[in-house]
Amino acid sequence: MVEDVIGNEGDRILGRDAQRNNILAARVVSETVKTTLGPMGMDKMLVDRVGNVVVTNDGVTILDEMEIEHPAAKMVVEIAKTQEKEVGDGTTTAVMLAGKFLENAEKLLDMKIHPTVICRGYRWAGDKAQEILGGLAVDIGSRDELVKVAQTAMTGKGVEYLREKFGEIIVDAVDVVAEGNRVDLGDVRIEKQKGRAIDESELIRGVVIDKERINLDMPSRVENARIALIEEALEVRSPEMDARISVSTPEQLTSFLGQEDLVLKEKVELIRGSGANVVFVQKGVDELVQHYLAKAGIYAVRRVPRSDMQNLAKATGGKIVSKLSEIASGDLGNAELVEERKDGEDGMTYVMGCSNPKAITILIRGGTEHVVDEVERAVEDALGDVSAAVRYSKVVAGGGAVEIELSRRLREYARGLSGRERLAVEEFAAACEFVPTTLAENAGMDPIDVLTELRTAHDSGGRDMGLNLFSGGIEDNMVGGVIEPLKVKTQAIASATEVAIMILRIDDVVAARKSEGRGGKVGNMSGYD
Ligand SMILES: Nc1ncnc2c1ncn2[C@@H]1O[C@H](COP(=O)(O)OP(=O)(O)OP(=O)(O)O)[C@@H](O)[C@H]1O
Ligand SMILES: [Mg+2]
Repeated sequence: MVEDVIGNEGDRILGRDAQRNNILAARVVSETVKTTLGPMGMDKMLVDRVGNVVVTNDGVTILDEMEIEHPAAKMVVEIAKTQEKEVGDGTTTAVMLAGKFLENAEKLLDMKIHPTVICRGYRWAGDKAQEILGGLAVDIGSRDELVKVAQTAMTGKGVEYLREKFGEIIVDAVDVVAEGNRVDLGDVRIEKQKGRAIDESELIRGVVIDKERINLDMPSRVENARIALIEEALEVRSPEMDARISVSTPEQLTSFLGQEDLVLKEKVELIRGSGANVVFVQKGVDELVQHYLAKAGIYAVRRVPRSDMQNLAKATGGKIVSKLSEIASGDLGNAELVEERKDGEDGMTYVMGCSNPKAITILIRGGTEHVVDEVERAVEDALGDVSAAVRYSKVVAGGGAVEIELSRRLREYARGLSGRERLAVEEFAAACEFVPTTLAENAGMDPIDVLTELRTAHDSGGRDMGLNLFSGGIEDNMVGGVIEPLKVKTQAIASATEVAIMILRIDDVVAARKSEGRGGKVGNMSGYD
């Protein structure tokens, strides 16, 4: 595997060997994810040492789960992470391009072209590529186009056969949280529920908490909810405290229990007094408190994770109260309805019609954990793409269309160059064609035939002609609806170029000494020890 690529004979690799070694490592990473690209890409099953299994098609997830030691390979993995962070999709593409840039650079190195020249050529090509991509992009016109963007993102992932349904859900979700061109995906909550079919997934206009009400005597449905969010435990003693109480007479015991009862009752009174009819507690709730809450007709949920508490606060306009004694009616949040629904393995609490109209949850359902997790990754990719399309309002044709046109125009640009950099620009251009050829290869088509056909189509002016793997042919993908946000492509090209240049500039790999104690920061990029 990747670790084996780096030699063990010493702790320093120099010159051409260092380059070869680094390039090889980066290519191994690229080759690993390559087979997952596109609608016909395969999935990978990742099994860790204790036998946990993840089945996925998502580039960044695969690389994240793999144990990668080689420093250059790690640098390539980093770009997948950046891509994920910046756009949320296109991680496989970015990594594959980086691998191909390096592979092609090696040909030039073999021709004794100096790495500095290659790097310069790549830099020029990378800059030119941004300009060309900008020119190829079109403004996003309609909601329908956004749905297509979402669907393109999900092809080849676990939810492909439900692309239409999820396409709508995702565009609706982004629509709810968007303010003009600003989209904060942090506002879109994803909740997962095992036990039902994927096609029963839905968009909930509110917050869904994966918890039931504590006690069956509590109402299962509260309209016009006034919601208290409480951090402290509704118990007499916190379970962490180990107190010893000594009583010597039955009277003492009764009075002690009576006291305890009083304290608990008081807590419920405070909640009631604030006007709350629903309460979410971050910690535990004593049985007696449960009883009193039920008697007061209050819906209560306990052990709600902090992140859910924060979501609830944001959605309902409530404030998380750390000390119950300080609760006031102004701290309460509002929702039209709080209800327990038991439609999966366990009941969930739905908080609907929240005072913040941006409260939205994509509820993903599916038969098993593996299914639900992979659907979640596909949904996240699509959310990333749709929000990138909304933020930058530009899209390009997918299925390799944009890459072929980019490659063609970069070759044209190269023709105007005179130095050896021209060769580097040409190799860069050739590398871009790796996207359509891989899409074809993964679909069992002949990559050379497809490439030739695509080039011919583009030479005769069909700039959006790409592979449409649903119809199985080459067509105008703007029309066919295989579209992607421009940002996925610009980000992938930019980071792939950057990492390729970075790796090419290395001609000496030294096992750096580990930083000891509080001394200066010495990064360990070697992966030797
Ligand atoms: N119907 C289709 N026909 C042809 N190509 C398609 C189709 N739908 C999507 N594609 C292409 O598939 C590629 C994306 O594949 P994929 O989602 O597997 O990888 P990625 O987006 O680079 O990485 P990841 O999704 O793992 O982060 C894009 O080039 C896209 O244009
Ligand atoms: Mg993708």
